[in-house]
Amino acid sequence: VTTFQSYLQKKSQQLEIEMEKYLPKNTCPLYQAMHYVCFNGGKRLRPILTYATAEALSKNSSNLVDTAACAIELIHCYSLVHDDLPAMDNDDIRRGKPTCHIAFGEAEAILVGDALQTLAFEILSQDSSDADKRLQLIHCLSNASGNKGMVLGQSIDTSSHENFLFDDLKYMHRLKTGCLIKAAVKFGVIASGFHEADISKKLESYAEHLGLAFQIYDDLLDETTDTKTLGKPSLSDRKNNKNTYVSFLGLSGAEQFAKEEAQQAIAALEGLSLKNNYLIDIANYSITRTF
Ligand code: IPE
Ligand code: IPE
Ligand code: MG
Ligand code: MG
Ligand code: MG
Repeated sequence: VTTFQSYLQKKSQQLEIEMEKYLPKNTCPLYQAMHYVCFNGGKRLRPILTYATAEALSKNSSNLVDTAACAIELIHCYSLVHDDLPAMDNDDIRRGKPTCHIAFGEAEAILVGDALQTLAFEILSQDSSDADKRLQLIHCLSNASGNKGMVLGQSIDTSSHENFLFDDLKYMHRLKTGCLIKAAVKFGVIASGFHEADISKKLESYAEHLGLAFQIYDDLLDETTDTKTLGKPSLSDRKNNKNTYVSFLGLSGAEQFAKEEAQQAIAALEGLSLKNNYLIDIANYSITRTF
């Protein structure tokens, strides 16, 4: 086990302890379904990015970093539940288990997404002395996940099939996946209380490239990896006739693009004296992972 692998494990555990606080076990179907989609073996890449960024900037960790990490994972889990719905990608498996709408029905799955989304903002808004940081986090996350970010990307993804250009594809990927990944890094900056504009800019550039690399590699995995390994249906994009980096460039073209974006992410960190190397490890991981 490498240092990076044990870091991933340690931070996943830290996140899950935090998430359990907000998602207590309960027999009510809504709460059961929320628990089901949140504790099912996600990679936790976004909250880990928040932790890694905060820890790269400051030695002192705060409760706010845990809250921020948790909020971003709640938004991500909601996005997956809705992404899998019959009206969207219509997929039956997520993180190795039946998707929320298969296990609990479509209406409950829609409501689970609604509830996780509002819960994310609720926990960010909860009482604390540091109202200013909390407001910044709320502003950042609402921008990244809503109609200027992820939701717009998802809309483009579901509505556009013809006359789709390569530039549209990049724009769509940046929105549907890149925005939340960028917010995860910004969350680390905000929650750590870090202020230097220069350094924040470089970290944002890192996150932009990483977000693109991550979704391009997701397109690639969809074509190259079996359902069992992926934990979600293989060839889902093909089934839905999606515009992806693979449909535009083929497997090796897409892989090349993912590599270049990951390299640019790492290059953006040059000259920063960070307190750990995990952001570099995460960029490499984004294009070498098996699922
Ligand atoms: C899947 O995200 C959806 C995309 C934006 C590509 P992840 O690959 O991070 O999924 P989990 O959280 O590990 O299941
Ligand atoms: C999903 O992209 C992006 C989201 C905002 C959830 P995909 O549809 O490619 O994600 P997977 O492959 O189902 O995880
Ligand atoms: Mg989708
Ligand atoms: Mg999907
Ligand atoms: Mg995909």
